[in-house]
Amino acid sequence: MKTTVIAPSNIAFIKYWGRKDEALRLPTNGSISMNLSNLLTTTTVEFSEDFKKDTIVINGVSNSNESNRVTMHLDRVRVLGKTAMKAKVVSKNNFPTSTGLSSSASGFAALTLAASASLGLQLSEKELSSLARLGSGSACRSIPDGFVQWNDGDTDATSYAHSLYPPEYWNIADIVAVVSQKPKEIPTSLGQQYVFSSPFFPKRLKNIKNKIRLIKQCMKQKDFEKFGELIEAEALEMHAIMMTSSPSLLYITPESLRVIQMVKKWRQEGLQVYFTLNTGQDVHIICEQKNVAKIQKLLGNMEDVKQIIVNYPGRGARLSNDHLF
Ligand code: PMV
Repeated sequence: MKTTVIAPSNIAFIKYWGRKDEALRLPTNGSISMNLSNLLTTTTVEFSEDFKKDTIVINGVSNSNESNRVTMHLDRVRVLGKTAMKAKVVSKNNFPTSTGLSSSASGFAALTLAASASLGLQLSEKELSSLARLGSGSACRSIPDGFVQWNDGDTDATSYAHSLYPPEYWNIADIVAVVSQKPKEIPTSLGQQYVFSSPFFPKRLKNIKNKIRLIKQCMKQKDFEKFGELIEAEALEMHAIMMTSSPSLLYITPESLRVIQMVKKWRQEGLQVYFTLNTGQDVHIICEQKNVAKIQKLLGNMEDVKQIIVNYPGRGARLSNDHLF
């Protein structure tokens, strides 16, 4: 059965950076995120006895660098569905790929639900999340709705994400300032393996449970100021680990830094606005929804900002009737 799924990318407030088990993609620590309403992957999957091989077309390109990972994920779904049928997969993002906007999160969440539903498998949200995690860690957080927590877990079955709050719970926004569409040079999957070489990583792990407790408290109380301070410190801590690992990873560019400096300046001038970063040069600007128009205008005046994408808290992966083939 041909099945299409739309899945969101997500932005982590507490980051997943480091794995305690490579094969199972078990993270060293839990993480907290929000699904993004406007960074979406749409994927259509069909299995058929007539297909001689898997056909994978991502953003109009067949046999891209990602095809291998997609085939490996299809194999996982084929094992669950007890079938050897080959598949046709067509997928497209509505945003730039591999620039730090987490297209692997939306991509593998969409693929997981589309492929499993296409084979008639009725997996629970928890099972879908665990399965998506094997494709790309952060993809497990794009399965449930809204504000999401991923507990690290110790086994395949216990490492999955669940919703903390639905999208409408909190009126915040993530305005992405795209500063360049240049793909990042070091993929996150590889970068994640270097964490243990940073002298600061043990310190991070020591504090992380407390950080998760604090951020959840801020979310519960909707304390935006404290929340903003925490997520900014968390983004900088992750980048400090990246910069001090061996080899050193430097994802922030002069353009990203100039946007960050402006965010700090606007805050000094009284606007409640904070930033966070993923692995890439684009800056995620977190604000309350009432300030979106103002911040959009400010960003629009900056030469470094090539594109602005406004996101609200979004739903997780869901079925769609608009097939791509
Ligand atoms: O799921 P991956 O391997 O693309 O790693 C994502 C890592 C970060 O985006 C930097 C952090 C996170 O928690 O999303």
